[in-house]
Amino acid sequence: MTSQALPLLSLLVLHGPNLNLLGKREPHIYGSVTLEEINQFLLKEAERLGATVVCLQSNQEGVLVDQIQEALGKYQGIIINAGAYTHTSVAIRDAIAAVKIPTVEVHLSNIYQRESFRHHSYIAPIAIGQISGFGPNSYRLGLQALIDYLRQN
Ligand code: DQA
Repeated sequence: MTSQALPLLSLLVLHGPNLNLLGKREPHIYGSVTLEEINQFLLKEAERLGATVVCLQSNQEGVLVDQIQEALGKYQGIIINAGAYTHTSVAIRDAIAAVKIPTVEVHLSNIYQRESFRHHSYIAPIAIGQISGFGPNSYRLGLQALIDYLRQN
């Protein structure tokens, strides 16, 4: 065992469309926790695990693509809940593939228990993994998985 401190990891958390409405939006599916509460929790959890996170939300596909492109050289990993763009956006998938930043896809709901149009993710094949169905805990699990992955690789 070495007593050397591990390098601080810089991570980007991206939230896609309608996730700004968490807490009010279909609470029977997405629960009552707000996006602000999720972000605050991630900031603390990241600090505990030796990382910093920047959390951004956009309802616009192009803004998410821009954020992914700008992440190059700034962040070592990305956690993304692309919301409905998960199921439609080749552009977001291509941006993640282009920057080659290890990315974990997360969803609050279990997308495979829901409508069939939610069963396909354009992001999953180029993500290091996907976590779906654990409510706000999906983000916490995604953060832990991403940090473990980056420390090992
Ligand atoms: C979601 C699942 C998507 O199908 C949906 O469009 C969302 C939220 C989730 O976190 O469960 O907006 O990504």
